[in-house]
Amino acid sequence: MAKVLIQFAHPTLSKSSIQKTLETYCRKVKGVTFNDLYEYYPDLYIDVKREQKLLSQHDIIIFQHPFYWYSSPPILKQWQDLVLEYNWAYGPEGNALAGKQMLNAISCGGGREAYKETGYNRFPVTQFLLPFNQTAHLCKMEYLPPFVVHETYNMSEDMINSYGENYARVLQSLVNEEFQPIHYQDVEYINELTPVPSFSH
Ligand SMILES: Cc1cc2nc3c(=O)[nH]c(=O)nc-3n(C[C@H](O)[C@H](O)[C@H](O)COP(=O)(O)O)c2cc1C
Repeated sequence: MAKVLIQFAHPTLSKSSIQKTLETYCRKVKGVTFNDLYEYYPDLYIDVKREQKLLSQHDIIIFQHPFYWYSSPPILKQWQDLVLEYNWAYGPEGNALAGKQMLNAISCGGGREAYKETGYNRFPVTQFLLPFNQTAHLCKMEYLPPFVVHETYNMSEDMINSYGENYARVLQSLVNEEFQPIHYQDVEYINELTPVPSFSH
């Protein structure tokens, strides 16, 4: 069984619809630790030792957040700058995270079409996430395909809950170590490995 750590970042959770629902679903999955960064560090003073201990205790690290300006809310950048220390996370003696896996779980206002070459965002989501991908690589981690919810505006309750169910299935499969490297080769998003019957991506 893999231990999954969710590093959650939403600066205005009281106004959230999608991420709040994903939170509710993922808190039900055994083997998942939910770490709400804005709740713990509203002033952005990150407890580095606490965070490094959490990382050491888990096998799969998920950065869960709304997509803001083609990236994450700022606390995740602050977290990276402080927690991923030289010769701890990277560098010649930095092996604390080696062999672990990392992915993003994000929600985007833009639809999937908007993130095509011909769309108004011009590039796929996976290209915008390259800094996370490369950070994982530098820290000797494996970067997995992201979990992505598109077109968050005007989404029906049923659809939101379907994504919640979809996310819970992904998390359960990660905990149960059901995914093999070959599974990741054919999908853009990890969502596609655990579809729910009520909708297709
Ligand atoms: C400051 C801000 C920046 C945003 N930037 C993007 C963006 O770059 N791309 C995108 O697709 N959506 C963007 N959005 C839309 C959010 O990603 C979307 O509203 C959010 O994921 C919905 O989740 P929630 O209901 O949990 O807040 C942005 C929204 C805000 C408030």
